[in-house]
Amino acid sequence: MHFTLSQVAALAVAAPLTVAAPSVEPRQAQKVTIDLTKKYQTIDGFGFSGAFQRANLVVNLKEPKQTEVLDLLFNTTSGAGFSIVRNGIGSSQDSSKDYMNTILPKCPSAPDGTPDYKWDGKDSGQLWLSQQAVKYGVKTFYNDAWSAPGCMKTNGQDTNGGSLCGVSGASCKSGNWIQAYANYLIKDIQLYQENGVNVTHLGFLNEPDYTTQYASMSSSGTQAADVIKVLRPSLDKAGFTNVGINCCEATGWNVASQHASQIAAAGAENMVYAITSHEYTSRISGVMKTTRRVWQTEYSDLNGGWSTAWYQSGGTGDGYTWANTVFNGIVNSNLSAYVFWEGVQDRATNNNNNEKLILVDGQTYQVSKRLWAFAQFRIVRPGAVRVGASGGSNLKSAAFLNTDGSVAVVIINSGTSAQTVGVSLTGAYPSVSAFFTDNTNDAKSVAVTTSDGTSSASVPGRGMISFLFRGASNATAAAV
Ligand SMILES: *[C@@H]1O[C@H](CO)[C@@H](O)[C@H](O)[C@H]1NC(C)=O
Ligand SMILES: *[C@@H]1O[C@H](CO)[C@@H](O)[C@H](O)[C@H]1NC(C)=O
Ligand SMILES: *[C@@H]1O[C@H](CO)[C@@H](O)[C@H](O)[C@H]1NC(C)=O
Ligand SMILES: *[C@@H]1O[C@H](CO)[C@@H](O)[C@H](O)[C@H]1NC(C)=O
Repeated sequence: MHFTLSQVAALAVAAPLTVAAPSVEPRQAQKVTIDLTKKYQTIDGFGFSGAFQRANLVVNLKEPKQTEVLDLLFNTTSGAGFSIVRNGIGSSQDSSKDYMNTILPKCPSAPDGTPDYKWDGKDSGQLWLSQQAVKYGVKTFYNDAWSAPGCMKTNGQDTNGGSLCGVSGASCKSGNWIQAYANYLIKDIQLYQENGVNVTHLGFLNEPDYTTQYASMSSSGTQAADVIKVLRPSLDKAGFTNVGINCCEATGWNVASQHASQIAAAGAENMVYAITSHEYTSRISGVMKTTRRVWQTEYSDLNGGWSTAWYQSGGTGDGYTWANTVFNGIVNSNLSAYVFWEGVQDRATNNNNNEKLILVDGQTYQVSKRLWAFAQFRIVRPGAVRVGASGGSNLKSAAFLNTDGSVAVVIINSGTSAQTVGVSLTGAYPSVSAFFTDNTNDAKSVAVTTSDGTSSASVPGRGMISFLFRGASNATAAAV
């Protein structure tokens, strides 16, 4: 997503920093009670993208900075522990500006002709970034095409909208290119697999309700269903039965909800893994009407100038705002994944705004607190099931049962003063640890005291704290 002029104008106004009131230790602990028998959605993970050549910023860093940035992104004990990487499948002729080059610069003359794929072994830096992620144990790779190559589209270019030739309402003299597009997307997955990265999720659209001068392709949910019905059996035939199709990357929740109902009406819902939405044109609210999982796959603050603040009054890019944004999506809107837009970006792009988590400026970097908001979720691992969590005033709490039996509890203190938070969880967990983030601390370990099945630690005003309960006996794990 890019800037509008009014967003650029808004940059000129910097919000003033608000100084937090001095912390006061409360007399009584606030209690959050976990209920493992109350089960909600399964979590696929948290992630970011390195699309639009941004991955190259990390490729070009020298050691030790390169490893430091990789640790910040992927390390589950010292960084954000991201578990999803969203790669852009290029459709452009070159990799200038925000373009990502395609593996099919020239189509065969007919849809069933033999495609002449050209693989550069880099994929705009994203292959390398994905390979590093594999080393950290990341298992979820979502490769998503912003558009089909221009030669498969009604407008003959991969930019400025246009439709895929062959979907309902879009016919071309050259024929129906849906199968050729499916084959092309599968080729991308094969190339990643040959290079040690197993793509687990595949998308073929990005913001299909928005036409712009970078790669973009228009589609309704109905037209997307035309593609899904060809792509699903093609993936299966190619041996990728476990690769899920995600759709359709709407600019906002309202359009994503339309996509979901159109796909269902077209009879393609059960061929989709996740309905995907961005949050730019309408924010996530309520629960989407679909039987599929729902992912938020791209959002960032496009308005604010670069901020590394945790809490900023009226802020849109501060860590606390993002802690609440992610929390809201997961707890109130049943999301199974929350994926930020760019992991890294330089200073020059879009007037150094907040659409990145880490500013990489040549050979130096700066980390925003948005990254640390995500880090507070790093103990929620893929496959975790969200469970019941309630209680405490001025506390927003969420709990998750990980596949290894550990329980992750994530709490935001909405109050302005420090609180001692007690987490009550039935069962014997010999190991309980906690860490918190606020203005001056990044996922910092804090002492936990346990008595009578309640584990307590202190969290600063407007801080965020995460507890991890581990080592339950098999009996406890089985009882769950
Ligand atoms: C993560 O960070 C810790 C602490 O710095 C380090 O010991 C560990 O090796 C890192 N993990 C990986 C996979 O690099
Ligand atoms: C990718 O999948 C193949 C085939 O299922 C498997 O042998 C390989 O270990 C996987 N690689 C990674 C890094 O998970
Ligand atoms: C939440 O999402 C899951 C799919 O991940 C779905 O089965 C469930 O019905 C959804 N819950 C609600 C309340 O819609
Ligand atoms: C827990 O279960 C595993 C696998 O079933 C077993 O190997 C292990 O001994 C059990 N541990 C305890 C403490 O019972």
